[in-house]
This record gives sequence, C-alpha cells and structure tokens, in this order.
Amino acid sequence: MSSVSLRHVYRKFGDVIAVNDVNIDIEDKEFLVLVGPSGCGKSTTLRLIAGLEEISGGEIFIGDRIVNDVPPKDRDIAMVFQSYALYPHMNVYDNLAFGLRRRKTPKAEVDRRVRATAASLGIENLLTRKPKQLSGGQRQRVAVGRAIVREPKVFLMDEPLSNLDAKLRVETRAYLIKLHQRLQTTVVYVTHDQTEALTMGTRIAVMKDGFLQQLAPPQEVYDHPANIFVAGFIGSPAMNFFDARLVSDGEGLYADTGVFRVLLPAEQRAKVLQRDAQDVILGIRPEDIYDRSLLQSSPSTDVATVNVEVVEHMGSELYVYFIAGKIQFVARLDPRSKATTGQAMEVLFDAGKIHLFDKVSQACITN
Ligand SMILES: Nc1ncnc2c1ncn2[C@@H]1O[C@H](COP(=O)(O)OP(=O)(O)OP(=O)(O)O)[C@@H](O)[C@H]1O
Ligand SMILES: [Mg+2]
Repeated sequence: MSSVSLRHVYRKFGDVIAVNDVNIDIEDKEFLVLVGPSGCGKSTTLRLIAGLEEISGGEIFIGDRIVNDVPPKDRDIAMVFQSYALYPHMNVYDNLAFGLRRRKTPKAEVDRRVRATAASLGIENLLTRKPKQLSGGQRQRVAVGRAIVREPKVFLMDEPLSNLDAKLRVETRAYLIKLHQRLQTTVVYVTHDQTEALTMGTRIAVMKDGFLQQLAPPQEVYDHPANIFVAGFIGSPAMNFFDARLVSDGEGLYADTGVFRVLLPAEQRAKVLQRDAQDVILGIRPEDIYDRSLLQSSPSTDVATVNVEVVEHMGSELYVYFIAGKIQFVARLDPRSKATTGQAMEVLFDAGKIHLFDKVSQACITN
C-alpha cells in the first residue's frame, strides 16, 4: 500500500508533449481513474509511474521515495495491460507463478499465493489450462491475478476491460471494484470510457492533449465540470451546449440562447455580474430538460417550443433529439412523454442546473 505523487511531470517525444506539467497526488488505497480521449497521454502517464517510460521533467514519488531513477522491477508496482500479455505456452498456474519464481520466492509460498489468488478471482478450476483454452473474461482475470499475486504496493491498469464484450465488461467492472475494496491497494486505472471512470473511480483525473483538466470525485466532475471539454466528455448522452447572451430586463438577468431564455438563479447571477463579456456558452445536461406537459406547474420563462427529430426508446427513459432552427440538442425524458418524431412540443430547461462557460477560456464561470 502506498501513495503516488506526480509533481510537474513531463514526457516529450520529439515535438509531441505527451504529458504536460501533470500534478496528481494519489492517496494510499485510492482508486484513481485517468480518463480522456485517445492520444491524451493516459498510457504514457501510467508508464511513467511504472518506470517503463523515461521522465522528461518533474518528479514521481511512490510513498515518500522519489522513483525517477528506480528501475521498474524495484518500484513495487504491478501493471495489467489491455493485451493481457499472458505467456501462451504456460498454463494458468505457471502464468500466475512466473513473477514469484523469478524473484526466487520459496516453492511453498508460491503455491500458497497462486492458490489464494486463483480462489479470490474464481479461477481455481482453470489452473491447468493454457490461455488459448480460456474465454476473454477468464484471460482477463488471469492477467489481474498475475498482478495481485505479487502483492504490490500499487496496481497500474491500462484499459484492462477493453477486449471484453459489453456484458462482461459491466460484470468485470463490478468485480474489480469489489476486489479493490477487499485488497485495499492503491490503483491507477486508465480508460477512455467515461462510464468506467464514473463508476470505478474514488476520484477521476480527466486529461486532454497531455494536460490534466480536472481532478475530483466522480460526482463533482459530473456536477461541476471545470470547463467545456470536461463537461462534454463526462456524461452520456453528452451535455448540450448553446451560444448564449446575457441580457437584463430590469427585473432579472437572463441567459438567452435564441431558442429559450433562462432566468439565472441568484447564485449564478452573482458570479456572472463580475464579468464584462456578455457572450457565454450555456451547457445543460439531457436529464435537466423536461417535457412540460408532464409537469404539475412550471414557470413561464425557461420554456421553449421545439421540434422532435428523433425519439429513442431506452425502456426506463426516452432520449429525444430536438431541433430548433439550426440548433440541435437532446433530452432524457420520462417514458410517459408523448414526444413524437416530426411534432412540436414544449420543453422546460431547469434554470438551476445550467452551466455557463467563458467563450474564450472555456472555463466554467458558474462553479
Ligand atoms: N514512443 C512514442 N513515440 C512518439 N510518440 C509517442 C510515443 N508514445 C506515445 N506517443 C504520443 O504521445 C501521445 C500520448 O500517447 P498515449 O499512448 O499516452 O495516449 P493514450 O491517452 O493512452 O491514448 P489511447 O486511448 O489511444 O491509448 C500521443 O500523441 C502519442 O502519439
Ligand atoms: Mg493508451
């Protein structure tokens, strides 16, 4: 068990700055998820922690020791790769035992640890099989087992679920969460999947173009995204964005998108009034837009009549895609909604749930 700290960490490949001044303090026993689109520097960051990649600047600590010059095998970490990287000619037992034997662990201890690990992963009955005789999910467990068996201080996982089908991915996700609760080990987990990030992380670190964008618990990232990128990346369907203008009518301050106008709640108004620029980006999540006909009462502002373009039935809810002029947006509506393709309907935008962003810096101004 151990903390991991990245202090002003850089990794350059020629002109490409894959990791750009990243600062992250990962607490002991934390499950930290590094998330972001392809090429944002997630794997490189993980490989820097593992020591598989040379650092171009900054410092990495594991516990209170600087590991910049410590070779990977002496860092007391274990890594699970997307490809699993199992030895094809060895059976499961030998795959699990390999790292321990190489470290000259006594035979009885190897046997004890391999069997305990296999039991904890529910793969005791597979010990004599070769990797090619296993399903994708079973191979994935063996790969995790190979990391656990070494009892490292820190686990590093790089998209370990991406080769699994959707159902197995959900099952294995829950399994890894339980495993983490049981092992109480520090985990750094890389994924490009925002759902995995939200469900698995005690905190999530969102990256883009080598830069850390936000580091916070999942709910905070969801409720208070730091900027437009994070707001659009976390959440599915994604947050809707509108160009908006701040206008005052003497009584209140409104954000006017041309499609609808919302009266800003007092708290948001106070933050916005400190600014000069009148043009902003307004963001609202699909679940914060309502079918007005299903509401008992609603204000007369914050509503708009818009056309339904597509209705997707999800069972427990509807994803309804709207169009108003050139502007498109999506709402998650109650399944009782009578939204019908090609027809107009009235929707309500929850003024208390809007996010306003600066047009230039893209930073959130209402957090
Ligand atoms: N060995 C290398 N040589 C040159 N450029 C590299 C090398 N490794 C990574 N890069 C570049 O660094 C950037 C970050 O790569 P990285 O593999 O960390 O991304 P990632 O976030 O893991 O993406 P993905 O989700 O596709 O795995 C990319 O622009 C990539 O092309
Ligand atoms: Mg990667």
